[in-house]
Amino acid sequence: METVQVRASRDYPVRIGRGLLDRCGALLAEVTAARRCCVVTDSTVQALYAGRVMESLRRAGFEAYLFAFPAGEQSKNLATYGEILDFFAASRLTRSDCVVALGGGVTGDMAGFAAATYQRGVDYVQVPTTFLAASDSSVGGKTAVDLPAGKNLCGAFWPPRLVVCDCDTFDTLPPEVFADGAAETLKHGLIADAAFFRRLREENIRGWLEQAVRRNVEIKAAVVAEDEYERGRRKLLNFGHTLGHAIEKCSGYTVPHGHAVAAGMVLITRAAERLGHTPKGVLEEILAANRQYHLPTECPYTPAELYEAAAGDKKRSGDSIDVVVLREIGQAETLRLTMEGLRKFTEVAL
Ligand code: NAD
Ligand code: GLY
Repeated sequence: METVQVRASRDYPVRIGRGLLDRCGALLAEVTAARRCCVVTDSTVQALYAGRVMESLRRAGFEAYLFAFPAGEQSKNLATYGEILDFFAASRLTRSDCVVALGGGVTGDMAGFAAATYQRGVDYVQVPTTFLAASDSSVGGKTAVDLPAGKNLCGAFWPPRLVVCDCDTFDTLPPEVFADGAAETLKHGLIADAAFFRRLREENIRGWLEQAVRRNVEIKAAVVAEDEYERGRRKLLNFGHTLGHAIEKCSGYTVPHGHAVAAGMVLITRAAERLGHTPKGVLEEILAANRQYHLPTECPYTPAELYEAAAGDKKRSGDSIDVVVLREIGQAETLRLTMEGLRKFTEVAL
């Protein structure tokens, strides 16, 4: 097992290894005095892994209760969030108890938001079971649910006490869900580490998954340590996200987050190259990487549809919106666009 320490408003360890689901009770006992915990998961992960996690928690002396919701982004809403809160109350969860988010990014974001707001905040632990959640969403303390008006519009910053990544859980991921994690991994290389991006292009990631998760977590932890509340540098983690979130919204959330981000990175980079912000050749590299990892290279929506969806994004501030472009592979910057500028970007991108 390896550990990356995240330094934020509250420091916490990210444990990365194999076979860790059976040890999560003992790992949790190291960071909390709680004796009672509510495990939140989705229907797919419940069938695969909840039994082992509940057993491990009980072995470590926890009184553990399980709540499962139907798998998928369509569940990431206020209704499910309300059901989770009701479950906490029915389980008599108190402020000194703990929540365990077992699953992908949907579970982590929603259980984390429930933990952030139940009784004004209880501790929670992330146990990611997708490559995307292990490499990105379980770290950094962003929690949220979607509103009909857009992605993640209701949420809070609420750092976990602990993250436990058991890379064995990736063995059961459908290939397209694995690819979602590859998209966020490519993003980290593209914005922060050219050598990491090169390795992702040259070596099959399946052969060095734990190292890839570790590098993802290190990159994200370094950004979060500097700018936990996204006032500056953390915005760079949103590369591909403004148009990516727009694609998710246009699709009625049937295009998964990682696929949408992959397409968003292509679109923003095509526009940035054409408008002179990114040097020629970077787009070709992103297209090749997306093909390699079975990620989309195109977008089925019109510029007007994308613009309308992106205009409601939470990265908008008054009459401007920040987008992230690459200065080169491994280096990114934020551009502040007027809404007219964003319209031009979407037109040029397509
Ligand atoms: P997800 O949680 O919906 O998981 C994808 C699918 O895989 C689901 O059907 C799930 O049941 C299934 N699954 C999970 N683990 C499995 C396993 N081990 N084996 C087989 N099936 C498994 O989606 P995701 O891609 O993990 O996360 C996407 C979400 O994360 C989006 O809502 C996105 O907004 C959010 N996100 C948040 C952050 C953040 O910083 N908080 C960062 C990136 C993404
Ligand atoms: N995924 C973007 C962030 O965590 O800031």
